[in-house]
Amino acid sequence: MSYKQISTTRRSPYLGAFVDGIDLSQPLTKETVAEVRSALLEFSVLFFRNQSVSDSEHLRFAAYFGELDTPHPVFDCKEDDPRLTVIESKGRAHDAEHYWHSDVTYQEAPSLGSILIARKIPDSGGDTVFASMYAAYDTLSSPIKKMLESLTAQHSIERGWATSLRMQPNGEKRLQKLKEAFPLMTHPVLRTHPETGRTALYVNEYYTSRINELSEPESEGLLRILHHQSQLPDFQIRHTWQIGDVAFWDNRCTQHYASHDYGAAHRVMNRVTIVGDRPYFKQVFRQAAWVSTPLVWGCRGVGKMR
Ligand code: SIN
Repeated sequence: MSYKQISTTRRSPYLGAFVDGIDLSQPLTKETVAEVRSALLEFSVLFFRNQSVSDSEHLRFAAYFGELDTPHPVFDCKEDDPRLTVIESKGRAHDAEHYWHSDVTYQEAPSLGSILIARKIPDSGGDTVFASMYAAYDTLSSPIKKMLESLTAQHSIERGWATSLRMQPNGEKRLQKLKEAFPLMTHPVLRTHPETGRTALYVNEYYTSRINELSEPESEGLLRILHHQSQLPDFQIRHTWQIGDVAFWDNRCTQHYASHDYGAAHRVMNRVTIVGDRPYFKQVFRQAAWVSTPLVWGCRGVGKMR
């Protein structure tokens, strides 16, 4: 893909690119926004360097790509605009980012993408690692791919947040409220990306609690295989933050992991999350040259056509 308004430098064969020629503190033209969106679809994670972006500019940039998510149910947020999530560590305050995950997959319509800005970084450590779930899927063997086509999995806010919430005063009560607000959610194990049409593996260690169609031990065993596949270093890039860096990732086809390798040093990141759509899996059978039957799996069994 060639770009006129921006320039891109690929970071690995599977995902990631630096984007230059753009100032995120300024309003963007329609053409530039369209190119950033195309670049996100092409590279799955974009990194903008040497930016100086205020909170309101952060929100404005994110809003070019869709509706902004309501305040995060657990992370702190900014008082003047709760759509700005503050992810702050002085020591291991919570576990959330320190597991591989895609953002808020316990929601019915999990996030399209997230935009993260480094506000305070440790002298060393605190990198974020990103992995391509297209590559994780593409490199599975054919029999496993075939089996995954008919499977759905539960995603649970409790699985992700119970430990850190229970360490806080009133944590048990908050957890119960969150479980009422976000009941167990079922998504297909394979997700068709709604814009690229590509298939991505869509289970993550942090929120996926079990595969619905399998027995408990089968589900555990298969999830172990799939998490191993998702976390292979082969499909990853690692970003070492500088102040002024902005990362924009596509939650529909990537996972990420915040390395907690900086002891009690202070690290502060601000995140804005863009609302996405309900995951679905669209399978195209090619039984013979003249047959092409699309089947669409929704979140609870056979679902809506898209
Ligand atoms: C996140 O998990 O969204 C934040 C990642 C990070 O703090 O590096």
